Order: sequence, then C-alpha cells, then structure tokens
Amino acid sequence: MADLRFDGKVVVVTGAGAGLGRAYAHLFASRGAKVIVNDLGGGRHGDGSSSKAADTVVNEIRSQGGVAAADYNSVVEGEKIIKTAMENFGRIDVLINNAGILRDRSFPRISDQDWDLVHAVHLKGSFKTTQAAFPIMKKQGFGRIIMTSSNSGLYGNFGQANYSAAKMGLVGLAKTIAIEGSKNNIYCNVIVPTAASRLTEDVLPPEVYKELNPEYIAPVVAYLCHDSCQENGSIIEAAAGWAGKCTVLRSNGALLRSSVKDNVTIEKVQQNWQKITDVNNAGILGSIQEATGALIESLEGLKLGETAAKNSNEFTADFEFTNKDAIIYALGVGASLGRNKEIKYLYESHEEFSVLPSFFILPALQASLETTVVSEAIPGKEIELSQVLHGEQYLEILGDLPIEGKIIQKLKVAEVLDKRSGATITVNVDSYDRAGNLIFRNQIVTFAVGAGGFGGPRVGTQTVPCLKKPDRTPDLSITQKTSVDQAALYRLSGDTNPLHIDPNMAAIAGFSTPILHGLSTLGFSVRMVLKAFADHDTSLFKAVKARFSKPVIPGQTLRVDMWKEGNRIHFETVVVETDKPVITGAYIDLKDIKMQPQANKLSGSGLKSDAIFEFIIEQVKADPNKAKSVGGVFLYKILKDGKEVKQWTMDLKNAKVFEGTPEGKPNTTLVISDEDFMLMAEGKLQPQQAFMKGKLKITGNIMMAQKLAPLLKAAPKL
Ligand code: NAI
Repeated sequence: MADLRFDGKVVVVTGAGAGLGRAYAHLFASRGAKVIVNDLGGGRHGDGSSSKAADTVVNEIRSQGGVAAADYNSVVEGEKIIKTAMENFGRIDVLINNAGILRDRSFPRISDQDWDLVHAVHLKGSFKTTQAAFPIMKKQGFGRIIMTSSNSGLYGNFGQANYSAAKMGLVGLAKTIAIEGSKNNIYCNVIVPTAASRLTEDVLPPEVYKELNPEYIAPVVAYLCHDSCQENGSIIEAAAGWAGKCTVLRSNGALLRSSVKDNVTIEKVQQNWQKITDVNNAGILGSIQEATGALIESLEGLKLGETAAKNSNEFTADFEFTNKDAIIYALGVGASLGRNKEIKYLYESHEEFSVLPSFFILPALQASLETTVVSEAIPGKEIELSQVLHGEQYLEILGDLPIEGKIIQKLKVAEVLDKRSGATITVNVDSYDRAGNLIFRNQIVTFAVGAGGFGGPRVGTQTVPCLKKPDRTPDLSITQKTSVDQAALYRLSGDTNPLHIDPNMAAIAGFSTPILHGLSTLGFSVRMVLKAFADHDTSLFKAVKARFSKPVIPGQTLRVDMWKEGNRIHFETVVVETDKPVITGAYIDLKDIKMQPQANKLSGSGLKSDAIFEFIIEQVKADPNKAKSVGGVFLYKILKDGKEVKQWTMDLKNAKVFEGTPEGKPNTTLVISDEDFMLMAEGKLQPQQAFMKGKLKITGNIMMAQKLAPLLKAAPKL
C-alpha cells in the first residue's frame, strides 16, 4: 500500500507545543506537509506565555528534514495564526483545533473566570481560527478541519462542568461546519482522544497513562485530513491504538396522541415512559432531516388515526419492506432464474427489477392478523383465528407500485355474512404511501368455522364477486411443478403457520401432509398470467380476484388455465396430478395485453408436455451434475395438430432447461407431437419405435438422444 502523503499541503496545528498537538505536527511534517506549529506556551490552567514550546517543536521537525514555522498567538485571536500560515506558506489545507487548558472545579465552585477562560480557549478559539481559515479553504476548494472534543463532553465528568460544556459545544460547531462546508469540499470532523499529556498526568492511573501515547492517535487524525477520506461531520474516538465512531441514537419512542385533535397529558407520558426510553431498537440519526422526517411520519399516522377514530371498527397498521422481502416472496411463488425474464423478480440491481403485484396482498393479510379486525368482527362473539380460513382475495393497484419502503394501512370490516355453519367476514384494507396517497387496496374474505347463526344477512353487497370461467376450452394453459420445499420457502414471507411445514400440525388440522399456502398458489397463478399476457410487465397489472377452493401439496404440478376476454383474463388453477381445481372463479384485469410470441401461436387447450418440461427443470435444478453427465444441447419442437407450437431447450451441458431456442446450434433436434411426447414420458411409446414410425424426427447427433431416456422416465404419470 502506498504511503498516504501530504506533499504541498499546509497544516495548522494549534497547541502543537506539547502533547497531542506535537505528535500531530510531527506526523504531518514527516509525510510532506508544511506545518504551522502554534502554541501560546502557557501553563496548564491558561496562565502565562512563552515562545519556547512552539520553537522546540519547530526545531525538532526541521532537524528531521521537515518544513515548519512557529506561531505564538493565542487561539482566541485565531485570525493571527491563519495570517502566519498565509505569510509563511501562502495557503491552508488542514486546520487542527487542538489547543486546550483545564480549570477543573466541582460545579458549585466554578467561577466566572473558570468558565470564561475554558470556553475562550476551547470553543471560541476553535471558532475564531476556523472562521479565519474557512474562506481560504473555500477559495481553494479543499479543506479539512478537526475539532477536539472529549469524553467529558459526551458523557460528563465530575469537576469538569465548564470543560464538558465547551467540549460538547465543539461537537455542534463541527456538525454545522460539516454541513456548510461540504459543497466546497471542506470536511469537518471531531476527534475524541485519550492520551498521556500534562492535562491527564494526574487524572489517569500510571499503568494506563504509559499506554496512552499520543502517537497512537495522530494517524487517525491525519487520515481524517487526507484528501482520500470522505468522512464528514463524524465523531471519532481514538485511544491506545484503537479507534471507533460515536453517534447519536434515538429510541423508537411512543406516540402520545391518537389523533391530531388529541391532547398530550402527563399521565400518557408516564404510561409510555418505558417505550419512550427503550433504546434497544434505537435508530441512528444521521441528519436533522432524518430526525424531523420521522416526526412528520408520525404526524401522518395521526391523520390516519383521526379518520380511524371516527369509525370505531377501523384499524391502522404499518408494513415496511425491502427488495429482499420481495425477492423471498418471488422465490416462494416459484419465480426462477431458469425461466425467461423472471430474473427481474429476483435481482434487485436488474434494470427492470419488479415486485410481483401479488406481493401486495401480504401487508393486508399481516395487518388483518395483527389487529383484532377479524376476531372482533361479530359483536359479542370472539372469533378464534385458528378457526378462520382464507376464502377469497381481491387486490387492486391504484398508484405506482413501490419496490421498498413503508406502507400505512387502514382496515375496516366491509360486511359479515351469516352462512349458518360459519360466517364470512369481508375486510377492506386500504394501503397508503408516506405522502398519504392510496396506492393499493385489498379485500380479504375469511370464513370463520362455527361462527354462524348470529342472525346476520346471508347475502352480501360489499364483497367483490368471483366470476364464472368462460364456457369453452382454455385459450392458454401454463404448467409449473411446485417444489417439495415450496411451503418451507413461502413461509419466510411471514405466514409461519406450522400447518404448512409440520406433519403433526397438519395431521391435527386433518391433512395427511403439510399443505402449501393458498397465497403461494395464487402467486404462481398471477406470475403465469403476467407471463402469458403481459410479458412480465407488472405495470400492466390492475387487479386480481380469486377463491381458494382446495389445498395444494408441495411438489404437485400446477396448471393455470386462462381465458382472454378483452383485458380481463379469467383463470382457474388445477393440480395436474389430481385434476382438481384449487383456485376458482378467478380473474386478473390488465391495463393492456402484451402477448408472448409463443403464446400467440397457441389456441385450444394447453400443452401436456409443458408439465413434463417443468418437471425436468426441477430435476435438473435439484441435481445439475446428473444433467451435466448426460451433456449435450437438445432442442425439442412440440407439434399440436401437425403445427409446431412450442420449442424447449435442454442445455444439459450447462444444466439449463428453458422455453425457446438455444444460443448456439443444438447437438440434437427432436420434433414430436404433444400427445406422442406424453406417451413416451408415460413409457407407453418407446423412443426407438416412435423414431421408426416417424412419430419422432431426430436431426443432428442421434446417438446422443438415447442418453435422454432416464430423464424422461422419471417424469410423473399425468
Ligand atoms: P497539552 O496540555 O499537553 O497540550 C495543549 C497545548 O495547548 C499546550 O501546549 C498549551 O500550551 C497549548 N495552549 C493552551 N492554551 C492555548 C491558547 N490559548 N492558544 C494556543 N495554545 C494554547 O494537552 P493535550 O492532552 O495534548 O490536549 C490537547 C487537546 O486534546 C486539548 O484540547 C484537550 O482538551 C483535548 N483532550 C485531551 C485528552 C487527553 O487524554 N489528553 C482527552 C480529551 C481531550
């Protein structure tokens, strides 16, 4: 590593005749700087003066080949020190405000003189010297300033009230200079040293004293002043060969009003004291904007709270998420790098990084579970959340979808219907951004088993209805196998109900095996509709409505059947292995349709072979080495009614299976109808026979095709 140098730089160190200042002056001079060694040469308590202190250090530096000049002024006349620097060296790049005295007394005994002298040297001296240097640095477009504070200032110390106050004053001074100087490349930081010097000789125990060499601190100060250091406005503590950053923390605090019309009372302060003072989850505040921004945010909460207060059954809940949450969700609903374009849901730095719209159901569901909106929906009846099933879901996007941040939600029961065996509770959840704009709205319909018979209406008017699927074969179907770990992955998005992972809990709930979350299946379905009709452009998504009819077992294959009616895509999701619909009455409204080129070619029912390829994708992902041992690049052309409708690439060399054509030339191309491909996968048609009968056309390396048999054989029976 190259030495960090200060050639050509002019450094002013105040109080450099002894202690820390002397160590700074020596280090800067040894790294090429021209140094002004300022020292009044007075006593420890600010008495007397002499040119000896500064002259000695200047002579030491010169004898070692360095460049230095002495200045004997008091920092209280800081402009004179800066004048000395300009007269000797013509510029000033670095200013270390270091000069200091002590006049320790217990607080009641501090005289005005003790107070004034300490403040004059530390606080006013730093102000005067810095104010004189600042315009010169501004003109140069470069400046590094150090203020010297103390742990006595940050934490207080017996007998040092005057000194502590001045030292903390320097922190405020430094922070404001940092803000005002930064646009001119003038940075100002604070050093909090602990070193052996005449100021500490009778304060520190002897065994500690000898370890506190000022030369351990000088490199920290020098680095802060190097033009490669971008630190600004920070408090850096250094001692005995250690350095760290000190900062200001603020607790999360407590809201003392529930609406803007509410008052703050002493009793409310008392009730909330623990929360106000709990710094366990405290946040670091970097600027005054951050500090006041949080206050404005809590005022937003108050405004929403005010509307909520008008309606006794209205609740509010916050939801905060990062792009990582959106990515974990996308994995939980089957997004994969193995599928074209889905990287945009999985890579936060991708230029089209997008959050799957169905992710925005999560905040509403979480809020409905966190609040008592559902459990208190029927007056006089407490509803057990363990008795509640997620029946239907509606989501509508109204504003720009955020990719991370905070959402403020209002929840309200829209209607409760008495279905005799149970009750359905429809909850509306409106979600706002920080500025108070309504960005999306959810409607959750839950079925509370055994909660019926309370004499309520049977038919509702407020619940967005499900729609019957069109009475024709689907226009398009897409198939994807879920992973056996799908529920284990999806639960990381927040729904950690053990029913989805623990076989014992599943058995208690009456299932032979843990079931997949209904919202994961819905997420799969939304992704597939977006793939087929929006080319994964999430900005085209407007709304989705769905009913959860039956559970899915992780590892099963989902097929989403789709019907296009204008900009509305009706869909039904079916488990291929059982042929049972699991999501019904569903549709997605899009703002516009963007068909995939392959999808355009499709009509009538979807391809059965899709399920096999989806299966192979999972197989290859699970054991890429097995695929690589087969090797080769295979292109499958699937025919329907004699026409080529889809192409699949099995790039086993790189363990990648995907829809479409390979980049280079495939080793082998196989052309086969959807039906014959299925027969082959089911073992009812031998590849050799198919080839002999002309049902399977192979071009390229025929021998290689034979190696594919084991992969196909493992496919599920459909
Ligand atoms: P020191 O007493 O060895 O050095 C201070 C120097 O400042 C002396 O040479 C003195 O003549 C000079 N000085 C005093 N008043 C002056 C004035 N009006 N104008 C110009 N020069 C003046 O003290 P030390 O320990 O090196 O302290 C340096 C700075 O670090 C001080 O600001 C002190 O408060 C601070 N500090 C020191 C700590 C330590 O553990 N040594 C702890 C915390 C802060």
